[in-house]
Amino acid sequence: MKSEAEVLSTRTPELFQAAVARAAELLRAGAVVALPTETVYGLAANALDPEAVARVFEIKGRPPRNPVIVHVASREMARRCVAHWPGAADKLAAAFWPGPLTLVLPKSGKIPDIVTASGGTVGVRWPAHPFMQGVIRACGFPLAAPSANPFGDLSPTTAGHVRKILGAKIPLIIDGGPSQVGIESTVLDLSVQPPRVLRPGMIHIGSLRHVLGERGVEEGGREGEDANREPRRSPGLLRKHYSPKAPLVLRSWKDETDFNAQIAALDSPRERVHVLAHTRIPAGQGLGRVRVLPSDVEGFARSIYAELHRCDDEGAAVIVIEALPETAEWQGIADRLHRAAGGQKA
Ligand code: TXA
Ligand code: MG
Repeated sequence: MKSEAEVLSTRTPELFQAAVARAAELLRAGAVVALPTETVYGLAANALDPEAVARVFEIKGRPPRNPVIVHVASREMARRCVAHWPGAADKLAAAFWPGPLTLVLPKSGKIPDIVTASGGTVGVRWPAHPFMQGVIRACGFPLAAPSANPFGDLSPTTAGHVRKILGAKIPLIIDGGPSQVGIESTVLDLSVQPPRVLRPGMIHIGSLRHVLGERGVEEGGREGEDANREPRRSPGLLRKHYSPKAPLVLRSWKDETDFNAQIAALDSPRERVHVLAHTRIPAGQGLGRVRVLPSDVEGFARSIYAELHRCDDEGAAVIVIEALPETAEWQGIADRLHRAAGGQKA
């Protein structure tokens, strides 16, 4: 086994610059490094170097049929990655970039086949995290970066999570602090008409419709839905994905008695049941752990993956999450938790 990854801090301007220089040096040499983004940590490589991207697939154990997102640091850089840049892309970029929105467009000849899983489209995103922007500018080339976790597992939102799950497989992890968005970007397919949400995220369909018009965006992306359409699979659409090790269930409860009856029915030792609530907080006697998450959607998104990582670390047998509001704002989080629970959103 290789030695542990070096972890570089970015806490002061000097450390930030030194970390940008070190990461860019390794990326230029074809290495794979873990970098902070505002959504989740990414496992990055030079997007124009097929061998470097192949290493990303190998480290993640990612099936070769799944395309990776290309990260850019300007609209011009994004345009060079695509064959055609429609007006809708301009509007969306003006509204949401840099930020947690990935646009899927016909790819340009510059982008190697391995990045797009040999498909004709590429996902591009201009991330908001200053470190990611600094390193892309220093490199001068776009970075292919899936989330920095083994395929199917929970995404990391801190450098510590990356170290725990991939520390032995990569030379460098940049610590850019906890991810401020906390769940993966919204993926919007602009290569179809009307554009279609392939993966919901914190930029929700209402916000996209505000920019593209009420009929300008279609919900979609769930497996099995719309069987007549050309299949445009995303790995993020697989049933069991974004998963902690412990089984996860979503539940709502009326009161403490109801809560206790539901916990008893789980058929797990009560002291190994972990509960993540956000509005109705059970007293939780004898439970493994009860955590109160923020009840606002941004705060919840920012903390949920870290809480799930902690449940795993502490040996949870079951993770009970209080059911979420069924509004557009919560759709990205609901999507991830339903997939982590191993089923599709009903
Ligand atoms: O927030 C994020 O998007 C993070 C950070 C690191 O930027 N990245 C991320 O990458 O979540 P990954 O590889 O774990 O998920 C990428 C998602 C998948 O669902 C993939 O199928 C979809 O984006 N995707 C990428 N390129 C695509 C394409 N050409 N067509 C359709 N879906 C695509
Ligand atoms: Mg991922």
